[in-house]
This record gives sequence, structure tokens and C-alpha cells, in this order.
Amino acid sequence: MPISFDPAKRLFRLDTKTSTYAFFVYRENYLVHLYYGAKIPDSDLEYLMYRGKFDSLSPWNTKVDDPDFSADITPFEYPTNGAGDMRIAALSVRNGDGNAVTDVRYVSHKITPGKPALEGLPATFADDSQAETLEVEAVDPVTGVKVFLLYTVFADYGVTTRSVRVENGGSAPVTLERAFSGCLDLPTMDWDMVHVYGRWAKENTTVRHPLQHGIQGIQSKRGMTGPNHNPFVALCQHTATEEQGEAMGLSLVYSGNFAFDIEVDTRGCPRVLAGINPTDFRWRLEPGESFTTPEVVMAYSEEGLGGMSRTFHHFYLDHLCPPQWARKKRPLLINSWEAAFFDFDDDKLVEFAQAAKELGIEMLVMDDGWFGDRFDDHRALGDWQVNEEKLKGGLASLIERVNALGIQFGIWYEPEMISPDSDLYRAHPDWAVCAPGREKSMSRYQCVLDMTRKDVRDNIFQQMYDVISKNNIAYIKWDCNRHISEAASAALPPERQGEFFHRYVLGVYDLMGRITKAFPHILLENCSSGGGRFDPGMLYYAPQIWASDNTDPIERLSIQFGASLCYPIASLGAHVSASQRASLETRGNVAMCGTFGYELDPRKLTPEEREIVKRQVADYHKYYDLIHYGDFYRITSPTEDPYLCRWQFVSPDKKQVLFTQVVMRQPANNYQLQRLPGLDPAAWYVDQETGQTYSGALLMHAGLDLSARTDNQLHDGYSVVKYLVAR
Ligand code: GLA
Repeated sequence: MPISFDPAKRLFRLDTKTSTYAFFVYRENYLVHLYYGAKIPDSDLEYLMYRGKFDSLSPWNTKVDDPDFSADITPFEYPTNGAGDMRIAALSVRNGDGNAVTDVRYVSHKITPGKPALEGLPATFADDSQAETLEVEAVDPVTGVKVFLLYTVFADYGVTTRSVRVENGGSAPVTLERAFSGCLDLPTMDWDMVHVYGRWAKENTTVRHPLQHGIQGIQSKRGMTGPNHNPFVALCQHTATEEQGEAMGLSLVYSGNFAFDIEVDTRGCPRVLAGINPTDFRWRLEPGESFTTPEVVMAYSEEGLGGMSRTFHHFYLDHLCPPQWARKKRPLLINSWEAAFFDFDDDKLVEFAQAAKELGIEMLVMDDGWFGDRFDDHRALGDWQVNEEKLKGGLASLIERVNALGIQFGIWYEPEMISPDSDLYRAHPDWAVCAPGREKSMSRYQCVLDMTRKDVRDNIFQQMYDVISKNNIAYIKWDCNRHISEAASAALPPERQGEFFHRYVLGVYDLMGRITKAFPHILLENCSSGGGRFDPGMLYYAPQIWASDNTDPIERLSIQFGASLCYPIASLGAHVSASQRASLETRGNVAMCGTFGYELDPRKLTPEEREIVKRQVADYHKYYDLIHYGDFYRITSPTEDPYLCRWQFVSPDKKQVLFTQVVMRQPANNYQLQRLPGLDPAAWYVDQETGQTYSGALLMHAGLDLSARTDNQLHDGYSVVKYLVAR
């Protein structure tokens, strides 16, 4: 069984195919962390709780008869604030007496098959045969606050997930000031921290640096996850590469203010916390009430960062993305945004559909601008009625015309927003988020709707329902184009204003859940000014997320590589646009490392370009399974190599290989022999273009000859694709 409990040692072991996680119940019922790392045999682990002699300044518990025990240095499972542990705390509860001393001790546990859902939150899922769950109950005897630590083990994936439920079992109201989803107290700081940062149109730049003494971390306090940092951190050995060495990834299934805080104490021991950002977070619990944290997913691999990423890719596809979409072929779409912006009418869209049909494209997505008075981005968000000045004859008639061509129809929404110049705002000015007496900051001329309120969500749901239920809509792009300032809700009492940000996220999940439940056949694509809300919380509702408003193929390389650290290639929204930086072929090859689609005016393509597009469409179908369900290998990273970017897909049976190389800048070296990882050494692969046969071992150990034979092959934006099939 993946989860075991040794009653004599009071020790828990959580085993996956790659990892072991262990903790135990020490004297006085302290929950002490022992180990997370490569899989180890059953052995005595208790010595791992000790970290040498503590200083005279450190507090110790006199009831624990152990000269080496101090809460100040002990690795804990879920460390609390103010009871002797001076490091950053996972939990801090301000109690009825007004202090925030928090101290929870083990009471009981249970192990059950499967995985319970988390109330109101997106989370990974499993049936009883796929996972096992441990729930550990711990209690603070002074306040009566109970903590339930949840661990689910997905043994076949090398994945363990965690979340926490806090219940006020006392008689006075308490306030949560910190409630992280999980903690990892590691014994050494010999790790590099890998994460991504960015901004609008430049998301997911990968950075890697050694851990340092002190507190380091990433966070969002923007109300959404944001493009600035992604709720994902990997720790890998200093020597780890893409394919070798230990790497563990922590990914938070959450779309709001998050924090990954890592404190390396003076002993060189890191404490890693992942969860809701404590800044701007307060949650009041009346007696009997409980609070559930979002889930953190931990993946462990000894096959480097690449192995860790592939674990996340398969795991998220199978256990997080909407199951009706995860392994269903998605339609090849063309989006109107970059082709028309706000300037379209029904005839133009039908012309797009007509031209797209001739190319083999399967769906037209009508982006922003179809509703209310929306002729530019200054107005009309919140007025989700069809603009019949643009769409003469209405939406149903437009969709009929598009469908008659054999093309499916998709539509854009930005449900969480309100323009001050809108009928909705004129009717309900208090629905726009703003703290009393403050000037509302504008961002893209819009405000944020107070999604903490059920009446607001009901209104937007009804407006959306009225349009969607009456029309043959196959796809929705759910956008979100500003972050939250002057945060407060007119509907919350002062003592609950600290709950605003988390309630906002819960409100978004509620609305998204209602829409996807009402229309399960609709493919949802998430977007937030590009990849500004590219997180696992969104992936639970939307199997694909628009990765960036930057569609330049060279810029896209680092954006997509960074996203691939944690997110499946099948989730990366990527389109071929009219960008001039690289040939149409290369633009296609880069977008093929994602969902693939088009974002250009199909009427303007030259006859030669139309032929290229038709070939790309054929490739999309040919390689669909390989790209969407295969193993992804980052070979040469665009943030590490200034010249070349290379990646590869290998089918699960290792019989097909799709390799791509893009020249970003002309390299001085025109001789390139590239080893291919992840192949079957015993197989014989045939290059489908040249007919040349290679042994798998040869390609893995000598490599594929990619030397440039013409100057053109060294030019910026040139790309090569190799498709090899085992004979
Ligand atoms: C955001 C999105 C774009 C497009 C526009 C429409 O910027 O990222 O793809 O939908 O909004 O206003």
C-alpha cells in the first residue's frame, strides 16, 4: 500500500514509484517531519529529526524529556506560530484571547482509498483504485482549533498532494492569519530553486539560483496569480540537468494571492511553505466553522527537471484537466483578435470562416467586441448582450452562417470585469470593487466585479446563460484583463474584509464551475492578458490556457519552455500569427509546441502561404497524439543558449520522435551533432524525410547531424523538424 503506518514507531510512510515521504508522532504528540526524497527501504528514520544541539536562546518544552529537542530546530510536518519555533510558520491563528500562539498536536488519523474533493476549490481527483489518502488530525488543546492534514498519494506518478482543513473546535471565534497548504522541512540547502517570472507579453522566463540563508520566495498579491510569478517552484540538486539528478516540484492549485516562502535557517535547513499569501489574508472562523486551503502538488523525479515536468504533464492531464476534454481531440481554431481587433461585423467573420474552411481549420473564435457598446476597450464590459450593429441579424444568424460552412463557433467573455461606462455599472455601481472613500484605480479602463457576492455572480451567470443556451457555441475564451486594487467588498462586514481576496477566487471558481457544469460540451480556454492566470486552478476548468499575447515565434520559445516546467503541452494556447520575425513554417513549428491554432486574417494569405497552412493543418492531425500525450523533452533552452532552441516529443511506446530546432540568432558554429534523449536504444528509427535509418543507441549517444549546409539554415528564425519512426 502506498500509505503505511507503523503503530510501534507511530511513523507514517507515503511511497510513490519514485519517492518516499515520512513523518512520525514524537513525544507529546508533536508531528515531526523525517524525510522526502528518493524511494528508500523500510528503515529506522527517527534519527533524521535531530539537527544537532540547539542554542541556549532556543525554547524547549520541559515535558519532552529530550536534551536535543527544541521546537526551534526540529523539522515539523505543519509548523505553527509562537510556541517555540521561530522560523516562518505554516499556521498562525489569532485566538479569542487576542494572541496568535498556535500549537497543534497529533490526535488521530485515518487512511482511505481515493481522494476527497476540496470544498469550493479545484483540486486533483482520483477514483478509489488510483490513489490513497491519509488524514491526520491535530488539535491545539488551548483554543480547540483542529487541523486536518490531508495527503493523497498517486503512487504511479511519483506525486503526493497535500491540503489542510482548519476547524474551530473551540468556543470563541478565531482568525486565521496564516494557513499554508503544505510545508517541507528539508535537511540541507544543497538545492537550486527554479521558478518563472515575467510580465504581460513576456511570461515564464525561467530562473535558477542556489538557496541562500534567510527568507526567499515568490508571491502574488494582485488578486490573481498574474504573469509576474507562477505558483510553481522546483528544487533541484546543483548538479541536476534536464535529464539527470533529483528534482522536486511544488505546484499550487490556486488562482489568487499565493506565496512560496522558503526560509533557510542558520543550520542551513530550508523550510518551504506553499499556499495562500498571508499578506492581505485574514479568515474568521466562528465555533464549528472550517476553512480548507488550496492543494499543493509535489512531484519528485531522479530524472532531472525534464523528468519532473513530464510527471506534472501526465498527472495534470489525467487528474486535473476536465476529463471530458483531457484526452479528447480539440478543434483546430482561428481567433479573430489579431486579425480584426474590435473592427468586425458578421460579414467579415463569415469571410474569415470561409477562408479558414478552405484551409482545413475547424473553428472560428469571435474575440472581444461582440457585445454592448464595445467598439473599443473603454466600455461595455458587463453588458453581455449581442451588439446587433456589428452582428446584423444577431448571433444565432451569424453562427448559423458559420456552421453552414462546416465551422464550429467560439466566443470571448470577460465575466469578472465591469466598465464604468456600461449599463451594468450605471445600475450597480457598488458591484465594482472599491474600498470606501477611495478613488478607484483604473486598469485598461475597467474595474473588477465583486465576485465575492452571490448576487453579482448570479447576474453574470444569467447573462452568459441567456446567450450560450440559445446559441450553438462550442468554445469560450474566458479572459481577465486587470488585477485588483482598492480591494474591499460592500457586502462584507469590517471583520471579514480580510477574507476578500480568497472569497474573490472562490467566487470565480463558483461561476466557472456553474458555467462548465451547465455546458460541459463547451471547450473552455482561459486567458488573462495572455498567460496572466496560467495556473493549475484554471486548468481544472479549462484544459487550455492562452500562453501569451506575444505571438512572436522567437519570444514564444522561452514563454512556452517556462510554462512547460509544470504545465502539459496540451494546455499551452499557441497560435500562428502574422508576426514577421520568422517564416510561416517556423511560426507553425513553434505553435505546434502547444494547442496550435491561427490568429491572423486568413483572407490575406498568399497562395504559397495557403499551401503552407494546409500542410501545417495536416501535420497538426498527424502529430496530435504524439504532441498532446507524448513525453516532452526540453533539449536546448532559449534562456540558456542564445542561439538555438531545441525540443522533442517521444510517444509513450517510444516508436515516434518529433524533434524541432529553431535558430534564434545565427550561431558561429555550423556543425551540430545533437544527441536525442528518451529514445529506445534497441529500436531502429527511420528519418521520415530522408529514409535514413539510425539505431536508437546511436541517436542517444552520437546524435543527429543538424549541421547547416546552406547559409539560410543559420539565419534567425530558421527551423528544422525531424520526424523519426521506429521500424
Ligand atoms: C486580452 C487577451 C487577448 C484578447 C484581448 C481582447 O489581451 O489576452 O488575447 O482576447 O484581451 O480584449
